[in-house]
Amino acid sequence: MLHDRDRIFTNLYGLKDPGLVGARARGDWDGTKALLAKGREAIIEEVKASGLRGRGGAGFSTGLKWSFMPKEIGERPHYLVINADEGEPGTCKDREIMRHDPHKLVEGALLSGFAIGAHVSYIYIRGEFYRETEALQRAIDEAYAAKLIGPDNVHGWDFDLYVHRGMGAYICGEETALIESLEGKKGQPRLKPPFPANCGLYGCPSTVNNVESIAVVPEILRRGGAWFAGIGRPNNSGTKIFAISGHVEKPCVVEDAMSIPLRELIERHAGGVRGGWDNLLAVIPGGSSVPVIPKSVCNSALMDFDSLREAKSSLGTAAVIVMDQSTDIVRAITRLARFYAHESCGQCTPCREGSGWMYRVLSRLETGQGRIDEIDMLEEVTRQVEGHTICALGDAAAWPIQGLIRHFRPELERRVAARGVSQVAV
Ligand SMILES: Cc1cc2nc3c(=O)[nH]c(=O)nc-3n(C[C@H](O)[C@H](O)[C@H](O)COP(=O)(O)O)c2cc1C
Ligand code: SF4
Repeated sequence: MLHDRDRIFTNLYGLKDPGLVGARARGDWDGTKALLAKGREAIIEEVKASGLRGRGGAGFSTGLKWSFMPKEIGERPHYLVINADEGEPGTCKDREIMRHDPHKLVEGALLSGFAIGAHVSYIYIRGEFYRETEALQRAIDEAYAAKLIGPDNVHGWDFDLYVHRGMGAYICGEETALIESLEGKKGQPRLKPPFPANCGLYGCPSTVNNVESIAVVPEILRRGGAWFAGIGRPNNSGTKIFAISGHVEKPCVVEDAMSIPLRELIERHAGGVRGGWDNLLAVIPGGSSVPVIPKSVCNSALMDFDSLREAKSSLGTAAVIVMDQSTDIVRAITRLARFYAHESCGQCTPCREGSGWMYRVLSRLETGQGRIDEIDMLEEVTRQVEGHTICALGDAAAWPIQGLIRHFRPELERRVAARGVSQVAV
């Protein structure tokens, strides 16, 4: 369990002042100038040493990503783009940072921007986050007024920070669709390469990072990469904000150590599964796009990248969706399939056609219509979509269905068989 002394987000529940005075009392903006004085390379090395892996879903090393930016700032400016779209169903962690601890993000933006050579950063925030936008803007205004950021600030690195509100498309959370949207275009993912570090926002070198990834940077630099790396298991380090929802006694958002056992996370922080652990059916451990795991796997799963990959699922955004025995699991996954079919931007055929096809087949299987051999066909189509698209939305559409077939195939077969029997009886 995470010691209180290792907690980064000390105002996650908004019990204290989120403003500059309160933030400073909690240690934010403490010695920022000295951190910048270490230099760009040293900051990148420290973040690499911390083992921080991106908190937006893919888990790519943050320090390594920063090192892909050009070392010298040429004619094209560098940009830091902060992803505050938080569109993944079940995920509600970044909004708590922006509501209650926004100065961690503002200070993190300055330090991260400096590390990658950016004098300008944009925070692309989900349009529905109206109050969060207000809270964030207040913090930014305070930071400008105190000359912590902006031109000629006390830190000696000119830095402008803008908040841009999105219009509510899930696909705009994908980093290149987000860049397109920021540029005022329709939010559709770009073909890669080139990657944003070479050609991102306005064709300039850019880095896109999740809100949580950026907000933990000041504390990593203040306490040292080794401190962060010492929490959790090797390759899965640090503290992590988990969002626990569904059939638990007390749904919550909580910061704990990476690699905490899934069962402990649910029982310690969310009051346990409704009706007790034995009433658990399954958990989606990382936001709606990752494969569901049944209770037998949940019993021993750890909440980190490697453990959940071994369980053929993923840590994703660490949004834990708990489903008890009362859940119609086929219906739940069918609902997610509908979401992904709806959110497909339509650029690539496997995703555009496949996501709708998978949804339609699954909705028939939900009511027992269709044939047993269609389950294999559905599996096969998920494999044809997975990895064959421009962006990972195709994978996100395929994985929940793969998880369903892997663990709950007998339930699909039972429905088809039951309907067959009832048709004969009629
Ligand atoms: C369809 C789709 C939606 C995404 N939505 C988000 C999102 O809402 N927030 C986010 O931080 N990352 C999202 N991502 C991941 C981003 O593309 C990108 O990997 C991430 O912002 C990088 O930040 P990180 O390295 O700090 O995790 C999404 C990816 C896909 C494919
Ligand atoms: S995978 Fe889907 S959402 Fe992504 S670019 Fe292709 S069609 Fe668009």
